[in-house]
Amino acid sequence: MKNIVVLTGAGISAESGLGTFRDSDGLWEKYRIEDVCTHEAWERNPQLCVDFYNARRRDVLAAQPNAAHLALAKLQQAVPSTTIITQNIDDLHERAGSTGVVHLHGEITKLRSSIDELATVDLDGWEQHYGDRHPDGSLLRPYIVFFNEGVPYFSHACAIASKADILVIVGTSLNVYPAASLIEYAPENCPVYLVDPGTPNLGRWRNRITHIQSKATEGVPPLVEQLIAD
Ligand code: APR
Repeated sequence: MKNIVVLTGAGISAESGLGTFRDSDGLWEKYRIEDVCTHEAWERNPQLCVDFYNARRRDVLAAQPNAAHLALAKLQQAVPSTTIITQNIDDLHERAGSTGVVHLHGEITKLRSSIDELATVDLDGWEQHYGDRHPDGSLLRPYIVFFNEGVPYFSHACAIASKADILVIVGTSLNVYPAASLIEYAPENCPVYLVDPGTPNLGRWRNRITHIQSKATEGVPPLVEQLIAD
């Protein structure tokens, strides 16, 4: 059975109403990364970080999976050796029915210890109250990989990508490392499909991929039907 590896970014959740980061109306046009998404920001003003991710969490809980999320869940059911690796912190893949999703940049529905990056707790509802503590005694913080922090599941994701028979990339500008380098871990002759209305940073792969230049809800469902039929 073919190993299909899917890498998703904010673009797959755009049609569910969740903002991307670097499009013209993106989140980083409205907020400064250094204020809400770095370890220094957490140390300097944790309440602002908590408020920022509470607002993101409220948006995620109000959003619904779209046809692209649902199509990828259908792909996993038809081809169980399909793995979804996402840069997204939302849970729309899971709510669409996908399982075993590898979240490279954390999960908005969880909080984590301040001293152990993998010691997470589930959060009911949208609101974290700054000051609550993890069972290990440390302050709870959003389970988000901040810029300049390590990506705990990256080596796991590389191992998955290295065994890909087919790589599908949906809705990422491929601007943020190490996630953007995952394409380099796929086998040289691995077919790569990209679904994105824009033009991500593909480097040497530019002429070696099949670019379906459309929105996720338009491009992913027919691609999934093709992959299931092949
Ligand atoms: N369907 C598919 N792709 C879309 C859609 C859509 N409807 N709308 C926008 N896109 C594409 C854009 O063309 C762009 O290539 O989604 C991509 C969004 O890029 P970014 O905003 O940079 O998001 P992403 O690549 O996921 O960012 C990576 O950066 O800030 C960090 O941790 C954050 O995980 C995030 C990482």
